[in-house]
Amino acid sequence: MEGTNTESQFNEDQKSVFSLRPDYPDFLNLPWHLPLNEWTEKCPLVVQLPRGLSRHSVVFVNYQSRIYALKELPPDTAKKEYEILRQMEELALPTVEPVGHVLTSTSEGDASVLITKYLDHSLPYHQVFMRSSLQRYREHLLDAMSSLLVQLHLAGVYWGDCSLSNTLFRRDAGKLQAYFVDAETSEIHPSLSDTLREHELEIMEENIVGGIGDLVAMGVISNDIQLSETEKYLREKYESLWNEINREVIIAPDEKWRIQERVRNLNSFGFSVDEVEVSSAEGGNRLRMRVFVTDRNFHSDLLHSLTGLEAQEEQARRIINEIQELRMTISESGGKDTPLSVAAYYWMNEIYFPTLEEMKSVIDSSTEPIELYCNLLEEKWYLSEHAGKDVGHSSAIESLKKKLFNRGS
Ligand SMILES: Nc1ncnc2c1ncn2[C@@H]1O[C@H](COP(=O)(O)OP(=O)(O)OP(=O)(O)O)[C@@H](O)[C@H]1O
Ligand SMILES: [Mg+2]
Repeated sequence: MEGTNTESQFNEDQKSVFSLRPDYPDFLNLPWHLPLNEWTEKCPLVVQLPRGLSRHSVVFVNYQSRIYALKELPPDTAKKEYEILRQMEELALPTVEPVGHVLTSTSEGDASVLITKYLDHSLPYHQVFMRSSLQRYREHLLDAMSSLLVQLHLAGVYWGDCSLSNTLFRRDAGKLQAYFVDAETSEIHPSLSDTLREHELEIMEENIVGGIGDLVAMGVISNDIQLSETEKYLREKYESLWNEINREVIIAPDEKWRIQERVRNLNSFGFSVDEVEVSSAEGGNRLRMRVFVTDRNFHSDLLHSLTGLEAQEEQARRIINEIQELRMTISESGGKDTPLSVAAYYWMNEIYFPTLEEMKSVIDSSTEPIELYCNLLEEKWYLSEHAGKDVGHSSAIESLKKKLFNRGS
């Protein structure tokens, strides 16, 4: 046994040592005696999926109907990366999910392999740039990156190699959500010094400008993208978010309502506030307020607790808004206040599931139901704005179905 949550065992070749989390397969039925770069030809469980650039061999395997990413590293390195990912998971940070690590002995020598769960519906950055259907997401990519870096820094994580290739993106209600993927150079500190943050920002600027420059050189995108603008934009986005969260606010003793206002404002950005520190300032005439945020899952946690649905932050924010509106409508028509949980239950059974049922004909295995539902809300908003009145879900469903059908045919 290794640690409390992992199980070690020898596989059939008696050479590989597996350290895996419980509730995952044993991965024994794989050619561990071969280096990963030979698996594609020799192992039928290997699947081809888009991925970012990497120095190490990475393969995806379909094992008992789930996809996993395997990365080959020098001995002991996979264990270190696995442990950092586990700690980041505990801190509720958006990362790939660590499954375990394996020590192997192959014809090319000893190695270690990190196993993570494949991040479903994820896109490496060059896919965001290459697919014309994703063009509108390009501008959101930099927002997602800078926001991810702020979240990591708030939690004391120094990435060490922040780059587009080390990030995965998922669509999130018309925007993008960035996920951390490569922890090889990362360190977790109780808190991060300004020097380390500055150092990281410099690495990020250099790597991201380099990553976009590579796409220009490969002819994937035209060279009209202003690289110096990109750098400036990233830093400004990072700094404004960082300063917004960390700023101290001085208030008068009779302005305590501003504490709630600040918490609500941070919640609206998705940040969950764990603690508000209030101390006296200016000889007791004023109050100094600081907030401590934990993660950026405020709405997704709320939606999950109300409905059990898993959504990303922006998707959840939109849906919670819809549930809040519904709550008002039900309260008005019933003449009494309706709890949010009751409105959420109604929304799920009378709106969400029936809508997905009606959209069945355009849903396939690559569809994320929540993202589809958010597209529908966007379509409804767009149609309603043109019509100058609320067009309702049915018209939006018909219109979106037509669009998706035409795109697919
Ligand atoms: N769990 C996962 N889900 C989806 N894709 C993944 C996952 N793990 C890795 N990848 C893909 O594999 C690529 C390479 O992974 P990673 O960055 O960890 O390799 P690396 O060799 O350490 O990179 P570097 O050259 O930066 O050191 C990523 O860009 C990503 O596209
Ligand atoms: Mg990498």
